[in-house]
Amino acid sequence: MNSTPFKTDERPTIVLTGASRGIGHATVKKFSSAGYRVITCSRQPFSDKCPWPSGPEDHIEVDLGSPESLNAAIPLIKERLKANDSKLHALVNNAGISPKDSDGQRLDSRNTPMDTWQTVFQVNFFAPIILARGLFDELKAAQGAVVNVTSIAGSRVHPFAGTAYATSKAALAALTREMAADFGPHGIRVNAIAPGEIDTSILSPGTEKIVETIPLRRLGATKEVAETIYFLCSAPSTYVNGAEIHINGGQHV
Ligand SMILES: NC(=O)c1ccc[n+]([C@@H]2O[C@H](COP(=O)([O-])OP(=O)(O)OC[C@H]3O[C@@H](n4cnc5c(N)ncnc54)[C@H](OP(=O)(O)O)[C@@H]3O)[C@@H](O)[C@H]2O)c1
Repeated sequence: MNSTPFKTDERPTIVLTGASRGIGHATVKKFSSAGYRVITCSRQPFSDKCPWPSGPEDHIEVDLGSPESLNAAIPLIKERLKANDSKLHALVNNAGISPKDSDGQRLDSRNTPMDTWQTVFQVNFFAPIILARGLFDELKAAQGAVVNVTSIAGSRVHPFAGTAYATSKAALAALTREMAADFGPHGIRVNAIAPGEIDTSILSPGTEKIVETIPLRRLGATKEVAETIYFLCSAPSTYVNGAEIHINGGQHV
């Protein structure tokens, strides 16, 4: 049964960054099981442990922290999309980094080294817009969607997330609005999701104290985030544009 909103003769395709772990990994599983072709991007080579079909052919090894690596990856992605009439149904900008200091402590606005700040912005902020601009024609051809993964830290000071991370996510939220205005007239929707405390390796020790104050009293699961990303890329959300959906168990109420 075709559970996607697309015709069976047109297998929908997404490009997903940060696919190797956490939220990205759950997102590959969600879209693959719904019949999508998923082109994954991360610094790691494809792992044979991953069970999905066409894995190695649909994986792009790229360091989003390097403008050169990213610029080299875009033509490779375009080449892979030729098999789908150069149509891209969704771009999910999920990869993100949240560096700490050498003792694992939060890097604040006084002590974040400028090169760290720049790398964080390259991965968390510049890579999403470079990819979206680079794949604009393919997104337009499919009347596709972009989902940017922001964070609860983009709208309030977080005890563990550093300043560079928080400001990069705030900038990505603002970019989502700008892109929604600029890409919308071309039939491309652009939205964001802002996770709270989701059970992945990005969490810091001490998160259990935060969980005690979250109305739902638990961490979020990666699957729950993947479901919302899927919603924003599929038919039930075709009039949702420029939104940022908070997935945080009520942490900010
Ligand atoms: N988990 C949470 O509670 C939470 C909360 C708010 C927001 N978020 C956001 O959600 C997104 C996913 O988070 P997560 O918790 O799933 O993170 P994660 O488990 O740390 O995974 C991060 C992913 O990003 C990729 N990545 C990191 N640097 C990269 C680079 N330079 N080039 C290419 N890929 C790179 C990693 O792949 P490789 O290492 O294989 O390259 C990995 O697949 C991030 O944007 C994060 O900021 C997470």
